Amino acid sequence: MRTLQLGTTGPQVSALGLGCMGMSALYGDADRAESIATVHAALEAGVTLLDTGDFYAMGHNEMLVGEALRAAPAARREQALVSVKFGALRDPDGGWTGYDGRPAAVRNFAAYSLQRLGVDHIDVYRIARLDPDVPIEETVGAIAELVEKGYVRHIGLSEVGADTIRRAAATAPIADLQIEYSLISRGIEDRILPTVSELGIGITAYGVLSRGLISGHFTRDRQLGTNDFRAFSPRFQGANLDHNLGLVEALRKIAEQKGVSVAQLAIAWVLSRGPRHGAAIVPLIGARTRDRLSEALGALDVTLDETDLATVEAAVPADAAAGARYPDMQMSHLDSER
Ligand SMILES: NC(=O)c1ccc[n+]([C@@H]2O[C@H](COP(=O)([O-])OP(=O)(O)OC[C@H]3O[C@@H](n4cnc5c(N)ncnc54)[C@H](OP(=O)(O)O)[C@@H]3O)[C@@H](O)[C@H]2O)c1
Repeated sequence: MRTLQLGTTGPQVSALGLGCMGMSALYGDADRAESIATVHAALEAGVTLLDTGDFYAMGHNEMLVGEALRAAPAARREQALVSVKFGALRDPDGGWTGYDGRPAAVRNFAAYSLQRLGVDHIDVYRIARLDPDVPIEETVGAIAELVEKGYVRHIGLSEVGADTIRRAAATAPIADLQIEYSLISRGIEDRILPTVSELGIGITAYGVLSRGLISGHFTRDRQLGTNDFRAFSPRFQGANLDHNLGLVEALRKIAEQKGVSVAQLAIAWVLSRGPRHGAAIVPLIGARTRDRLSEALGALDVTLDETDLATVEAAVPADAAAGARYPDMQMSHLDSER
């Protein structure tokens, strides 16, 4: 497994990380045993970075990751670096009620996460969304205190824009920014990528397959339950979905000519962006089965030369997607979109 350093102050991590969210929440039902087997297969393949959030099914995902780590061979467990997001507030109906980045809340969230994960430290800790009522300096400062006490190793950010990134980096060393980045979500290229590159901050990219939309496996007739984000996501609705699946068919032709899958082509494209933008970019793969994981890991063997890249970008230009990447209410929480 190739590795790279996540920003100038961050940890050395595998070139692909495993995002565990879908094993508990947001993409409909998942199989717990298969999820744990997928975490183990990822560790076995050399993946070192596991991403979770305390609000993914209200602690369920952290407990699942903790269980997987405890059941893994010691050497595999020790290689694992756990990245945790906090700050999203939930209610018993599963609703999302805001964000809390106050220092006392940061310490409280961390105490619960350490317990649920069953670890003595969190490798990368970040607030999921900027709390509009709390200056980022206070939230990052509270994480920095946890770093001093040994409960956290590195500080990350999530879905914040260039100005907030600069303020955070002036407060404490920042390892990485976690943000959506894919062939059809390229908003970070204008201001955010140049900023992280200048400041020596890495990127952990999520939604690299646009939540399965550009994986090559998503079909028009897929039934989405009310526990599936995609049932409400603008890109998966009506004419938007038809248009976006048309883009996937254009990618499929290119993938077939290269003898790779659509998902591998889409992941390889994101992998190719790091050297292009002078930043460490690590795709977080949302696999929750060993088959999907194996397909995703195959992207590490795909080389895209300049002709391939030009062909891909001609088929899917930067602004080609129909529909925003989140519903309006959730878009309004994204500091990165301001
Ligand atoms: N910071 C943030 O705001 C934020 C937001 C969202 C996610 N994240 C993190 O980023 C991680 C990845 O995000 P994501 O899950 O949206 O990523 P993604 O890779 O774009 O989407 C995962 C979806 O793609 C489908 N898929 C099809 N083929 C796949 C393959 N070969 N490998 C992997 N998935 C495949 C999965 O399918 P199936 O339905 O077949 O399982 C799943 O539904 C999450 O797990 C979470 O840790 C962070």
